[in-house]
Amino acid sequence: MSSVKTYETPGTLAEVLDLLAQHSREARLIAGGTDLLLELERGQRRDTAVLIDITRVPGLSEIMQDEQGNIHLGPLVTHNQVVASNLIVRHAFPLAQASWEVASPQLRNRATVAGNLITASPANDTISPLRALQASVTLASAARGRRVIPLADFYTGVRKTVMAADEMLLDISFAPLPPNARGTFVKLGLRGSQAISVVHETVLLEYAPDGETISQAWLTLGSVAPVIINAAAAESYLMGRRLSEEVIAEAARLAADVATPIDDIRGTAAYRREMVRVMTSRALRNLRDGQERAHWPQDPAMLWGKTGGHYPTGPAYAGHFNVGSDIQSTVNGRVMTALVEPQQTLLRWLRERGLLTGTKEGCAEGECGACTVFLDGMAVMSCLVPAARAHGAEIVTIEGLAAWPQAHDAGLHPLQQAFIDTNAVQCGYCIPGFLMSGAKLLQEEAHPDAAQIEQAFNGNLCRCTGYYKIVEAVEKAALQMASAAPQEG
Ligand SMILES: Cc1cc2nc3c(=O)[nH]c(=O)nc-3n(C[C@H](O)[C@H](O)[C@H](O)COP(=O)(O)OP(=O)(O)OC[C@H]3O[C@@H](n4cnc5c(N)ncnc54)[C@H](O)[C@@H]3O)c2cc1C
Ligand code: FES
Ligand code: FES
Repeated sequence: MSSVKTYETPGTLAEVLDLLAQHSREARLIAGGTDLLLELERGQRRDTAVLIDITRVPGLSEIMQDEQGNIHLGPLVTHNQVVASNLIVRHAFPLAQASWEVASPQLRNRATVAGNLITASPANDTISPLRALQASVTLASAARGRRVIPLADFYTGVRKTVMAADEMLLDISFAPLPPNARGTFVKLGLRGSQAISVVHETVLLEYAPDGETISQAWLTLGSVAPVIINAAAAESYLMGRRLSEEVIAEAARLAADVATPIDDIRGTAAYRREMVRVMTSRALRNLRDGQERAHWPQDPAMLWGKTGGHYPTGPAYAGHFNVGSDIQSTVNGRVMTALVEPQQTLLRWLRERGLLTGTKEGCAEGECGACTVFLDGMAVMSCLVPAARAHGAEIVTIEGLAAWPQAHDAGLHPLQQAFIDTNAVQCGYCIPGFLMSGAKLLQEEAHPDAAQIEQAFNGNLCRCTGYYKIVEAVEKAALQMASAAPQEG
């Protein structure tokens, strides 16, 4: 069982900083929890006795541009919010690409960019684009106020930063790409999604007025050194040159030279170094040929329904929970009050306290999607949500899907009926998760195309069916729901 004894949910920023000052080394802030819960589970944070949940503090999940034109991300900005932000897609495209490559839609609905930076793994995807964008972070503590640190000076080693124990990351800021600059993020993982980077890289190029000669270049590499590094020799080589095949080859060679990767289960050092050469060539060619946006999804599946990616916040949701506390949540439309342990997951609370065993535990690590539920309208992996976060929240589980707005008169959601009609179920273990992801997609997109269905199920694994019948069921349910929908007058 964990070291965590107390779960604090402050309703204001001042309370967060006071709690950090009060508890210092024995406290950790928790945002999406998608790194921290697993570290606690694996015994990597034995000194953590207090979790401070910042997700109910108002005003921390905004993406905005200030009068000087700089872009700011609040500490609760999730990867899905970055993907959906026109401002970021237009003016910091590599960051949008990196966030899109993080995990799955359910995880991206909770996981924050700030958490990605602070975990400080060199494999964390948003660090290379934010380094290339020359971002800065603002840290705040009750005792010493605020300080701004260039991201280039934030890391001191693998999973190590300059942040003090009583500090909170309050803001990530960077200048938008100027009109004569273009950039791209490339990732190599062992599978198409839900993959930790074997190598990731961001290439930003600023062009001279002729539109072809490079006046400035930034190449930042991830997963090939203890921290994100610049391929400085390649950057200076590119300046003043145009992207001929020879120039691309030489820049790629120089980039590979600077990598100092390790051997691990995902790849050997030699493989990683060779992949830096290949990925740098690809990125430079894409930029030269204007292809960097060719595969950007038009209407990506977010699985956040009509929420726009924002959770309810404010003092009404504040709480202080320790061993023996109850939380109160609305589950499938009914108020449920039940005991919570400070480090219990929402999945376990629903199953063990709520006896709602329809939501399954497959991997308990955010990898399989079997535990998908709706938290305040967004599909999330309940195995990676702290149970105490459910206090004051609206939860829908698979048991509640039939009572959902589009339920069938036979008491089934059209998608449940379609799964039956298309024989999309075999052992059934993964099906609750697929139904929840599929129903959320259909709430978002009345007629999802094949790409959106695939994106929606990126976080759901099935070991039996081969997915074809599941996709067919979504298409069938979409047609059925469209025909049942009141015709526009
Ligand atoms: C199945 C799975 C797949 C994943 N795939 C990817 C991937 O493809 N690419 C990738 O980069 N990552 C991936 N991750 C890692 C993780 O999802 C990301 O790093 C995520 O961005 C972390 O954000 P979070 O809000 O969940 O952080 P949390 O877990 O809440 O926090 C992370 C750390 O930051 C601290 N912290 C958080 N916010 C603040 C703050 N404002 N001030 C001070 N400290 C703070 C916490 O104390 C903790 O130490 C994956 C994780 C899982 C479980
Ligand atoms: S993703 Fe939660 S149990 Fe697998
Ligand atoms: S039906 Fe068995 S895992 Fe999907």
